Parts: sequence; C-alpha cells; structure tokens
Amino acid sequence: MEGAGARPMEGRTCVITGASSGIGKVSAERLASMGASVIMVCHSRVRGERAKSEVETKSGSRLVELMLVDLASFDSVRAFAKRYGENHDSLHVLLNNAGVARLRRSLTVDGFETTFQVNYLSPFLLTNLLLPLLKRSAPSRIVSVSSTAHYGGHIDLGDLQLERGYGVMRAYSQSKLAQVFFTHELARRLEGMGVTANCLHPGTVATNIWGNALGPASFLGKVTRLFLLSPEKGAKTQVYLASSPEVEAVSGEYFEPDGKKRSSAESYNQALAERLWDASAALVGLS
Ligand SMILES: NC(=O)c1ccc[n+]([C@@H]2O[C@H](COP(=O)([O-])OP(=O)(O)OC[C@H]3O[C@@H](n4cnc5c(N)ncnc54)[C@H](OP(=O)(O)O)[C@@H]3O)[C@@H](O)[C@H]2O)c1
Repeated sequence: MEGAGARPMEGRTCVITGASSGIGKVSAERLASMGASVIMVCHSRVRGERAKSEVETKSGSRLVELMLVDLASFDSVRAFAKRYGENHDSLHVLLNNAGVARLRRSLTVDGFETTFQVNYLSPFLLTNLLLPLLKRSAPSRIVSVSSTAHYGGHIDLGDLQLERGYGVMRAYSQSKLAQVFFTHELARRLEGMGVTANCLHPGTVATNIWGNALGPASFLGKVTRLFLLSPEKGAKTQVYLASSPEVEAVSGEYFEPDGKKRSSAESYNQALAERLWDASAALVGLS
C-alpha cells in the first residue's frame, strides 16, 4: 500500500485501544510508521510504557503518546474521553481494538458482564463520546475489531448480561455480534457526514487473548498458538481499514483478511440494531 519512505498518514491522528499487545500494538507501530500521530490507549501503565517504547523504536516516530483507560469502567471511559478532548483538537481514526474473552462470568464495577462491557458497551460509549470530534475532523474513520465468532452469536435483549447461562464462547460471540450491529447502525446514522464505520475479523492470530480465554497455562492455549497467524499478519486488515484510500468511502461493512464479506444474517436485522442501540445507550447512561 505505501512505498518505502511514504508517510500517507502524516497529519492524521489515530486512537487505538488495546495497544499494549497483540494486533493493537502492531497497528500502532504500522500507523506511526506511516506518519500518523498515534495515541496508544492501554489498560496498564507498565505494559503501556513498555509497548510505547517498542513502537517508538520500531517506527522511528516521536508522535506516539500513551493514555490509560479501563474499559471495564464507564467512569474511566468518560474520564479518558474528557482528557482526550482537552488535549487534542482532532481525531481521524478510532480503532476499537481492545478485547477480552472471560472464561468465567464476572461483573464489572458497573455491574455488567465483563466481556460484554469491555468488548462492546464501553467501545459504544467511547465512540459516542468521541463522535463530535470525529465529525469535526472528517474525513475520519471508526474501525471496530469483531471476529468470525460473531456468526455464532445471538442478541437476546432480555438477557444481554447472560444471567441465564454463561459460556466463554457465548459471551464472546454475543459481544462480537453486538459490534457488527453497532457498525451497521453507526454507518446509517453517520451517512453523509464524512465519518465511516467498518468492522473486521483479523484472522486467527497468536496473541494473549487465547491464553486468557483458554487459561494461561493450558495445553490447548499453548498448542493453539503454534498454528495461528503472527500479530504482524493479523494487524493487516485493521491497518488497511484505518488507512487505505481504497476504503475511504466504504462504510457499514464487515471485512476479513481476504476482503469484504457478508456478516451474519441476524446482523442485518435493522429493527434489532435500533433496539440494541437504544438499550445500549440506556445501559451506558447516554441520553
Ligand atoms: N487473536 C485472535 O485470533 C482474534 C480473532 C478475532 C478477533 N480478535 C480480536 O482482536 C482484538 C485484539 O486482541 P488480540 O488478539 O491482539 O489480543 P490481546 O493481545 O490479548 O490484546 C487485547 C488488548 O485489549 C486490552 N484490554 C483488555 N481488557 C481491557 C480493559 N479492561 N481496558 C482496556 N484495555 C483492555 C489488553 O490490555 P492488557 O493486556 O493490558 O489488559 C490488550 O492490549 C480483540 O478485540 C479480539 O477480540 C482476535
């Protein structure tokens, strides 16, 4: 896409959540190498500082900043959005990349099922809080990292917190399907405003998420990693959606590493997308 020495993202500001590891960290390095100002949004200061210095060294960029957020807390998301707005006057790419797959059901400080809040509700809130700046900075892009797991997901508005039966794949698939619904609805609401919204599956990639989902020391977790894509290859689809002129005007779509795909049949239910949006807005406290 970019020639040697080309800096096609110069003058563009990119916020990347979950930039401390995996495909988020590689995306930070790639976008910084293309000349973008990159805000690495991380959960832990220690892991974030380590990742930032690695990204600076590999990209040779000085335009890399670390900011902290805990997506398991709406207060933290609101505080982040406020700090961001106070210190930055533009946002061209919001890459909602952070994600978890919790083996056991747990609740956040806000009382919601953790996988649903970290993967979907908090990115929903964060995106909405940053929308005014994304609109002022247009052309701009919202890229959300979903998964092929969304095909197995289902949205039951009566049990979004999975109180009636929890399983790691059930929770993960529901959250990733919710991201696809969000992308479709967001694209409809942003039509004609110069802000696009797309989502993607990065491939099956050797990152920490597998160890966390399957158990850090699990045999399956270790063996699985041997057969997966490297994070360098796994980051390609989201870097493409964040930066390529080819998709400048594309919105409301789901991508995989080999291109645009139809997402699950359920994800095209517009009435459900609208109801999920309204339910989510109520849960996160947006009017
Ligand atoms: N790997 C795959 O095969 C695969 C396939 C499909 C989709 N995905 C998606 O790709 C995205 C990136 O995951 P990855 O594979 O690169 O795994 P990863 O290395 O585990 O990265 C996940 C990132 O999310 C951050 N995060 C987790 N909980 C957070 C919280 N409460 N607040 C803020 N940040 C938090 C992590 O930060 P800490 O480590 O500091 O907690 C980490 O930086 C995820 O959305 C994942 O669902 C991955």
